[in-house]
Amino acid sequence: MEILYHEWISLLVRWLHIITGIAWIGSSFFFVFLDLSLRKRPHVPEGVSGESWLVHGGGFYHVNKWMVAPETMPEDLHWFKWESYYTWMSGFALLAVVYYMGANSFLIDRNVLALEPWQAIGLSMICLASGWVIYDLLCRSPIGSHIGWLAVSVFVLVVGASYVFGELFAARAAFLHVGAMIGTMMTGNVFFIIIPNQKKVVAALKAGDQPDPALGLQAKQRSTHNNYLTLPVLLMMISNHYPMTFGAAHNWVVVAGILIVGGVVRDYFNSKNAGLTGGRLRWQWPVAALVTLLLMVFTAPRVISHEGAEVSDARVMEIVATHCQGCHSARPTDEDFTEAPAGAAFDTLEDVKARADKIYTQVVVSDVMPLGNKTAMTEAERAELAAWLKAQR
Ligand code: HEC
Repeated sequence: MEILYHEWISLLVRWLHIITGIAWIGSSFFFVFLDLSLRKRPHVPEGVSGESWLVHGGGFYHVNKWMVAPETMPEDLHWFKWESYYTWMSGFALLAVVYYMGANSFLIDRNVLALEPWQAIGLSMICLASGWVIYDLLCRSPIGSHIGWLAVSVFVLVVGASYVFGELFAARAAFLHVGAMIGTMMTGNVFFIIIPNQKKVVAALKAGDQPDPALGLQAKQRSTHNNYLTLPVLLMMISNHYPMTFGAAHNWVVVAGILIVGGVVRDYFNSKNAGLTGGRLRWQWPVAALVTLLLMVFTAPRVISHEGAEVSDARVMEIVATHCQGCHSARPTDEDFTEAPAGAAFDTLEDVKARADKIYTQVVVSDVMPLGNKTAMTEAERAELAAWLKAQR
């Protein structure tokens, strides 16, 4: 009996990551909504900056927000931080299980940069840490006090990082690292700024001192950044399954588009929840639709020429044996795989025919397969496969 430990660990960690991510982003959406729904009404108690009424699960909730804090601290204060910490920890574990343990297949592309696994893994960690350090310095610098300039700087930081990652790692890994870097910035905000600041406020109140309102404002600034980053970070994470995104030439342009679309759509909901109407709500969807359309055109696939001589079935199986079967087999020989990736084994001609359309998109329309072109497939071989696949249709 062969137990697929690695696959199982990967599945369980991914499950945890998705659940904690939902909990974190869900609470982020909820609190931003709650904040924006607060209204200052005449009867609210002293120190309350706004109130909101909610109905859910068979009852009514009446929420008051104290700025900076209430007179006395309640006994059982609920904090929201573990959603974020667990999302980061499970995400990092998943990165290690998939991209570090399978570095040769997933992290490294020798046509991009011939790294040894330990070098690629070291670089990956340095990239994630520097993303946070640079972002934090930007927020603390004079740029940080100007919302517009800060937004532009963070945009340039993320797009610039995606360009750099593309020069270091396999395209798929580069995109995932952009997502991981944004996620690290977001958890960094919670861990290094938002929660410590709130702890200082609580400590000051307990000591009977007046807490510094700047602490709350700084936390609010970072939590707003997190809110605007939620949609782009999710798309970067699922982009893995869509080769047209990371597989595009100059794929950093795709990252720029995703940041704009995600940020703009988030802004629509934030503006709407804040009670804005009319012109303040009209521009976001058209801009998001236009940028998405431009992305579709920009990522339009390359298709290599199908012209050429007849290609025999035997020749195709020869190409598949050389370039695909190492991984795509019921018994893979590639060290990183214990079973056929995505359940696709190409051991027989029938297997290949059954997946002809998928092979076409992965090998001819884009050059995502062979993964990281580990087997050094040539354009001529792709053209042969293309001609044969065309004839199957
Ligand atoms: C180094 C290992 C490796 C090699 C070599 C390789 N693949 Fe893959 N292939 C993978 C992995 C891993 C996936 C799953 C990717 C994912 O989860 O999105 C995959 C996915 C695919 C899929 C998508 C399957 C599906 O149903 O979603 C196709 C089609 C494919 N490969 C075709 C090929 C062909 C054709 C070749 C040879 C020209 C090849 N691959 C070579 C690792 C490899």
